[in-house]
Amino acid sequence: MSNNRVSRRQFLSYTLTGVGGFMAAGMLMPMVRFAIDPVLQNHGGGDFIQTEHKIADITEEPVKVDLKFEQVDAWYKSEVTNMAWVYKEGDQIIALSPVCKHLGCMVNWAQDSAHPDQFFCPCHAGRYEKNGKNVPGTPPTGPLDEYEVSEKDGYLMLGPTKANTLVK
Ligand code: FES
Repeated sequence: MSNNRVSRRQFLSYTLTGVGGFMAAGMLMPMVRFAIDPVLQNHGGGDFIQTEHKIADITEEPVKVDLKFEQVDAWYKSEVTNMAWVYKEGDQIIALSPVCKHLGCMVNWAQDSAHPDQFFCPCHAGRYEKNGKNVPGTPPTGPLDEYEVSEKDGYLMLGPTKANTLVK
């Protein structure tokens, strides 16, 4: 007969430890999953977002183009609408960010009657040329950012913004 018999006390101790551990894992797993869930999500950073504007409809006159996407901040999801000023230069589609490089107001195209071919910032009368170049002597200290541009099924796709490449 073997001397490795498990006593009743040991058997109960092992069983309770096993069941307790199993129950603790069952309670902790959802909590751990909840805590690190945002890290596990694939947010597809840098993806292009389809707009409702057809490439064929874009002209040399800058127009406002809305850019809607879902933003996730940790556990909070919200629908965000950004916009771009879009126009055609030859065969190239240009999409400029409307965010003024002075203090972040939204610029508009042709709003200043004295400078109808420029972007105008109403906050402090900042001005930009059509390619986004800030006009010297006005408050902005740099050119408007540019969006990455693409096309899908004839529709304009806008990607992340980047530093202006049009201003030499
Ligand atoms: S925020 Fe645009 S000029 Fe000041």
